[in-house]
Amino acid sequence: MVERTLCILKPDCVRKHLQGEVFARIQKAGFKVLAVKQMRMTKEEAGAFYGVHKGRPFYDGLVEFMTSGACVPIALEKENAVADYRKLIGATDPKDAEEGTIRKLFADSKGENIVHGSDSPENGKIEVAFFFAESELI
Ligand code: RTP
Ligand code: MG
Repeated sequence: MVERTLCILKPDCVRKHLQGEVFARIQKAGFKVLAVKQMRMTKEEAGAFYGVHKGRPFYDGLVEFMTSGACVPIALEKENAVADYRKLIGATDPKDAEEGTIRKLFADSKGENIVHGSDSPENGKIEVAFFFAESELI
């Protein structure tokens, strides 16, 4: 099935000037880029985006981190996009991520782990729509 998934190049990725490097790996893996922008999320936006984690011990730190600088949401489309993209980025904690994955290569910690990825095709659609109007998806 052709699916949509949302990538965010997180503030640590932007601070380390790794946007191009990570983007190239995503493109080489065959994802179609529907839309991309750079922005800085407000606390309200980051809190709502990660609302599913509200109440978890890492939630406040996650919102703080995601609003600490610019990030780059990227809407992606591909056959089996959600699972294939999560395989490309690797496990949440870079210590657990497979060799060659984006998080293994570039992430410093479980909290600061370079990229976001949607966790289901349903959430892929919802998260793409969180950042982009349908008319911006080309
Ligand atoms: P994401 O949603 O950002 O793609 O990451 P994920 O699915 O691999 O992991 P998830 O469980 O959804 O957690 C969301 C983000 O919260 C931060 N986190 N920190 N310090 C911690 O124990 C901890 N646990 C999660 C990470 O930035 C993680 O990507
Ligand atoms: Mg997640």
